[in-house]
Amino acid sequence: MLESSKNELLTKVSRGTSMGELLRRYWMPIAAVSEFDSESVKPVRLMGEDLTLYKDMSGNFGLVDRHCPHRSADMSYGFVEQCGLRCNYHGWLFGQDGRCLEQPYEDVAHPEARFRDKIRIKAYPAQAHAGLLWAYLGPAPPPLVPNWEPFTWKNGFVQIVFAEVPCNWLQCQENSVDPLHFEWMHMNWSVRLKDKGGPYSPRHLKLAFDEFDYGIIYRRIREGMSEEDPLWKVGRVCLWPNALFTGDHFEWRVPIDDQNTLSVTWCFSRVPKEREPYVQEHIPAWRGPVFDAETGRWISSHVMNQDFIAWIGQGTITDRTREHLGTSDAGILMMRQWFLKDIDAIARGQDPKATIRDPQVNRCVSLPIADRKHLIEGASLAEMQSGPLGSGRLATDYIFQAGQPAEVRAAYAAAMGIPE
Ligand code: FES
Ligand SMILES: [Fe+2]
Repeated sequence: MLESSKNELLTKVSRGTSMGELLRRYWMPIAAVSEFDSESVKPVRLMGEDLTLYKDMSGNFGLVDRHCPHRSADMSYGFVEQCGLRCNYHGWLFGQDGRCLEQPYEDVAHPEARFRDKIRIKAYPAQAHAGLLWAYLGPAPPPLVPNWEPFTWKNGFVQIVFAEVPCNWLQCQENSVDPLHFEWMHMNWSVRLKDKGGPYSPRHLKLAFDEFDYGIIYRRIREGMSEEDPLWKVGRVCLWPNALFTGDHFEWRVPIDDQNTLSVTWCFSRVPKEREPYVQEHIPAWRGPVFDAETGRWISSHVMNQDFIAWIGQGTITDRTREHLGTSDAGILMMRQWFLKDIDAIARGQDPKATIRDPQVNRCVSLPIADRKHLIEGASLAEMQSGPLGSGRLATDYIFQAGQPAEVRAAYAAAMGIPE
């Protein structure tokens, strides 16, 4: 269990809170580049701050306050110019850096006053990378947007998937270092959801958690597995500070505010060798539902929807004074301790764990990947169909989250060279 003051310290994300300041030291994925194919301005809420994300006519992304510093009109209804975003109420124009570039009336009626030079809108850096848009809300200078190894891979079809989950980010992230739930929540429960009885899936016999530069590696041995298995030898990754990385997909748990989390998945599917060289022109993004209005229950049909049920079920901000941690929760304790250490580190003026500032390092940041050979070298269609992960790897239906649009499914099937 965790005392209530610590629970508060680790969960609250507004500006000025300990954890809020720590999380502001990292770039957060908040949207997809392809969302701006059809629209140029979008409201976003990140760590309790209401903001406006836009792409101007020069193709640059900007992230500014939701409200105009003139008389607080909603900037998400503003419109973009060659450079910057213009408020739709009286036309004040703001640049990416927050400077006020034009005040149409004041500039003509009282140019000598140069009132605009006294005005700024809150502005944060935003950068596109790997099809995602990243925001940095911390002190300057920002670290680099991490160039994780899979972002450099070729011959893959990538899709980006969002969901809004109505609970605090930390319980979502604790799931990133919880290998045991896979057996119960995803294996045994899925079988029973389909009304099938039968034996339970192989039990977990041994778990291990190891810190490394970019997070915690977790390892598992289940019945019938040897210590040669990549899931023990290589393991999987709880990625700092708020993601899970399984080898071919990342899941970030991005705090919208204390009570809501944006789940952001970046999922890479290696195309069969027959399809090489494959270059993806467009990375699609879609938003999946969490709640089923027909049944009045949370959706349980897909892997991540099942996770969402666990997170939401723990309560909006779970009460950790009531928990009883077992040895399977060792990774969770490790993670909390690291956050507490990092809160102290930034108070001393140091960088927290896993911030990258060296461009040399960031050319390609390698991570533990159990299935590296397949993901890099590829496999034939036949091998993929008969391989250890079997047809699951080639299923046209997206297995992780409900609601994949038909056009994304079709684009995936076309990339993989399989019938829809
Ligand atoms: S409120 Fe934005 S220009 Fe007046
Ligand atoms: Fe899960």
